[in-house]
Amino acid sequence: MSKDRLIIFDTTLRDGEQSPGASMTKDEKLRIARQLERLNVDVIEAGFAIASPGDFEAVKAVADTIRECSVASLARAAYKDIEQAAAALKGAARPRIHTFIATSPIHMQYKLQMTPDQVLDQAVRSVRQACSHVDDVEFSCEDASRSDFDFLCRVVEAVIAAGARTINLPDTVGYGEPGEYGARVARLMQAVPNADKAIFSVHCHNDLGLAVANSLSAVLNGARQVECTINGLGERAGNASLEEIVMAIRTRSDIFPVETRIVTEEIVPASRLVSGITGFPVQPNKAIVGANAFAHEAGIHQDGILKHRETYEIMRAQDVGWTNNRLVLGKHSGRAAVKARFEELGVRFDTPEEMETAFQRFKELADKKHEIFDEDLQSIAGNVATGDAEERFRLVALEAISHTGEKPRATVVLSVDGHERSSFSEGDGPVDAVFRAIEQEASSGAKLLLFSINAITTGTDSQAEVMVRLERGGRIVNGAGADTDIIVASAKSYLDALNTLGAAPREHPQTSGI
Ligand code: KIV
Ligand code: ZN
Repeated sequence: MSKDRLIIFDTTLRDGEQSPGASMTKDEKLRIARQLERLNVDVIEAGFAIASPGDFEAVKAVADTIRECSVASLARAAYKDIEQAAAALKGAARPRIHTFIATSPIHMQYKLQMTPDQVLDQAVRSVRQACSHVDDVEFSCEDASRSDFDFLCRVVEAVIAAGARTINLPDTVGYGEPGEYGARVARLMQAVPNADKAIFSVHCHNDLGLAVANSLSAVLNGARQVECTINGLGERAGNASLEEIVMAIRTRSDIFPVETRIVTEEIVPASRLVSGITGFPVQPNKAIVGANAFAHEAGIHQDGILKHRETYEIMRAQDVGWTNNRLVLGKHSGRAAVKARFEELGVRFDTPEEMETAFQRFKELADKKHEIFDEDLQSIAGNVATGDAEERFRLVALEAISHTGEKPRATVVLSVDGHERSSFSEGDGPVDAVFRAIEQEASSGAKLLLFSINAITTGTDSQAEVMVRLERGGRIVNGAGADTDIIVASAKSYLDALNTLGAAPREHPQTSGI
């Protein structure tokens, strides 16, 4: 029996980016969008075009670049939002406007301060306006799981009549329970007379840890689009995780009457890319993409696996992209080979100079470690594409000293707006000493919210990738740095964050024009 297609709508770049601290630059969004294209998702929600000029540019860049997936922009059910979304999507091969308004009594009364009739009217007007720009319009009834059922039916029927092709029923606050939520979807599809003219979609938040279960229950009850994110990133506790949805559908194909087009081998690379860019580490025991997801510790399990893999494994690690991170290049590899491998990984440099910088970084790294893996190249690409930040601070040299029983200390030499500066500090550890020494020059006053170190590949010669998150005056930025030396990687990540923050360096008499 042939199966229905389940549309995978990825909202990592929109709802995922709404996680506090997960904001991404345009270049970072483009890198993720290219990976989502390799993953073969059906729809990429690239952002919320009206939210800021930066969001508009990012949606436009993704729309202009991606050819194989539909590209969506979110828009409130409001005139200007829809015009901005349409403008940002002009260059898309398959543009989709995703417009929404809340339909629950609590949202309508307190947030919108609108009557149900006004909400209905606004929804219909907005869908008509969106349809005047693009053929593919999605409408979301925000807080659908807490909306009055009869009102929800009225809205859904009216927006389908107005031209919406996809109807999304978000569990905005993660309140749903699988049985109840699935039943609501099925009942709605039955009750709305023109339901057959649209695809029904779900978008579940994970406040009770039920986002994936709710989404799958909705699929069993007729939903044919699921909105989800890589690593379950998203507002508050996050969204339904793409990798869990896709692998549940595939592994339990005996139960689910649908299939997806996802190239599952691209799941782990996508997870690592999103984690690296946002600085949100993946917990080791996370299903599918956690470092331990396929690791067997108990002797009985190991014995079973050796005798017959399926005794303890329901999926194959390589099917989700856990390859033995292919050894690709070494210090004798030339420009052409390096460039070709970058291209295979979907990395495109905007200028020949950027490619040259990447090649030089590759050579420096190959001198330090023999084997260069895909993850190393991804990390180099991330560091070359420094985003839109101006590079005011650059690391020239550092020395960090750590002796048992003595206070760790560090001396850093920085290039600050092109002038070399040296500073010294003690600290609670060598990293703390380095950060304090940098702060003596930068005087950013920023608060360190997060510091995380990851080994990019295996082995003690692996590059360390360090993420820091800084906050100043309510603005939160991430910084990343990679190096085979953990202390150097830490310093680079701190400086990267300062550059993004646009910190003003401490004034020195010799450069202040006095
Ligand atoms: O959670 C939600 O309701 C949303 C909508 C805008 C789709 O993100
Ligand atoms: Zn959401």
